[in-house]
Amino acid sequence: MARLPSIAFSRLEQPDRRISHQGTVMFLMGQDGELSPGARAFDEDGRIARAIGVSEFAGKLAAGLDVIAPAAGIDRVVVVGCGETANNGESNWMKVGGRIRAAAARAERVTVICDLAGEAELSADAVAAVAAGAKLRAYDFDLYKTKDKKSSKAQKITFAVADPAAARKAWKALDAITDGVITARDLVNEPANVLGPVEFAARAKELEKQGVEVEVLDEKALRKLKMGALLGVNQGSVRPPRLVVMKWNGGKAKDAPVAFVGKGVVFDTGGISIKPAGGMEDMKGDMGGAAAVTGLMQALAGRKAKVNAIGIIGLVENMPDGNAQRPGDIVTSMSGQTIEIINTDAEGRLVLADALWYCQDRFKPKFMINLATLTGAIIVALGHHHAGLFSNNDELAANLLAAGQETGEAVWRMPLGAEYDKLIDSKFADMKNTGGRWGGSITAAQFLQRYVNEVPWAHLDVAGTAMGSPKNEYNQSWGSGFGVRLLDRLVSDKYE
Ligand code: BES
Ligand code: MN
Ligand code: ZN
Repeated sequence: MARLPSIAFSRLEQPDRRISHQGTVMFLMGQDGELSPGARAFDEDGRIARAIGVSEFAGKLAAGLDVIAPAAGIDRVVVVGCGETANNGESNWMKVGGRIRAAAARAERVTVICDLAGEAELSADAVAAVAAGAKLRAYDFDLYKTKDKKSSKAQKITFAVADPAAARKAWKALDAITDGVITARDLVNEPANVLGPVEFAARAKELEKQGVEVEVLDEKALRKLKMGALLGVNQGSVRPPRLVVMKWNGGKAKDAPVAFVGKGVVFDTGGISIKPAGGMEDMKGDMGGAAAVTGLMQALAGRKAKVNAIGIIGLVENMPDGNAQRPGDIVTSMSGQTIEIINTDAEGRLVLADALWYCQDRFKPKFMINLATLTGAIIVALGHHHAGLFSNNDELAANLLAAGQETGEAVWRMPLGAEYDKLIDSKFADMKNTGGRWGGSITAAQFLQRYVNEVPWAHLDVAGTAMGSPKNEYNQSWGSGFGVRLLDRLVSDKYE
């Protein structure tokens, strides 16, 4: 795997002391266009200031200005724009970090002088976010490239800050979250021949090293639980299904847990209602919800979050074969409700029906949030920049919207209602698994809601955001890891 940079923090020298650094040196600049005191110490004869003037560099967010050999002993300086520094949240600081890494991808040593001109100060959280952006930018899934590896050299990025101890502390937590994002990206990027349900469960099991309790339920156990909806989806696969339960017990023993449930279809051919060939390879990412839940559990454990959290992932493969389920089949879910299969390609909701029911039944959580690459229709509605949010609870929805704004993992609330629910009533069973052509993301959400009862619940349709979303300053990967930072923030803001 591509080498990620190692991150360190050092003390920012006094501006009146001339410092000599090796490698590339980076300065931060806000929209005021002023060099910081730390930067000015490098610019005794004013060449950097002149370069800024000549190029009309204005410190725009994540813009960069390269100045080659600006002073004796310094090879290269990059001034990195930070935009309106006072208004930058985590996501903007991560963009700054992404630009830093991009500007110096091949440098072995990078020093970032972390101060700003004028009154503005860089908080420890901002510095940590810059570091997170740099590390995530460096992520490159090149496991299966035997040639043309982009990043094999070791790199050390040192952030020179006023208070290294505070920055280190903030980074320790954010680094754990960053590692969770990377796990989620890895899982989404892995091809389905390598990552089947059994292999995915084994990856989840690795979280035990970090103190997560991991239970893996096999096919026999799922049969005993009568998870007919989940099992029906896997029926056409030669590989057995799994349901994984992850528990992080960081809160008080008596506290009800928060719960996260993920759709983990390791590959979605559509089944007998088979998908067209074009682009079908993307369906190796149909476990993006499960990947995010796994990455989130790693993040919570890694930063020792003071919360009790449950992560449940339903792992199956949707294949057509002689034993596959058919349109017209009727299956009985764990809840006892029966489902008429209209389209075997609407399989994610079937997996989640049993996983959600099991989750609330066994754990009585404070709330339950599921993530799923559930519908193409959500991409039609929201494109790749927002995940669809459906919820039976305004407070939970508001908290998710706020966490989305803070982290840049944006969500947009969509409606639920009886008129939509009616569309999935079935002639032959309690419900059918599709609701017709219109409002496809909403009828999918209505289906899920039939398996949640009274518990505060939110469904995130991440079909447009978990994979194939546009690259940005801190994500160049197909699998984005969407949801890990969002939900970690929800937990740290409201439930710790
Ligand atoms: N996994 C797909 C949804 C999807 C589509 C995810 C594109 C990512 C990108 C899901 O299982 C599916 O096939 N949904 C169908 C539902 C339909 C048959 C009611 C869809 O969206 O077309
Ligand atoms: Mn499908
Ligand atoms: Zn699917």
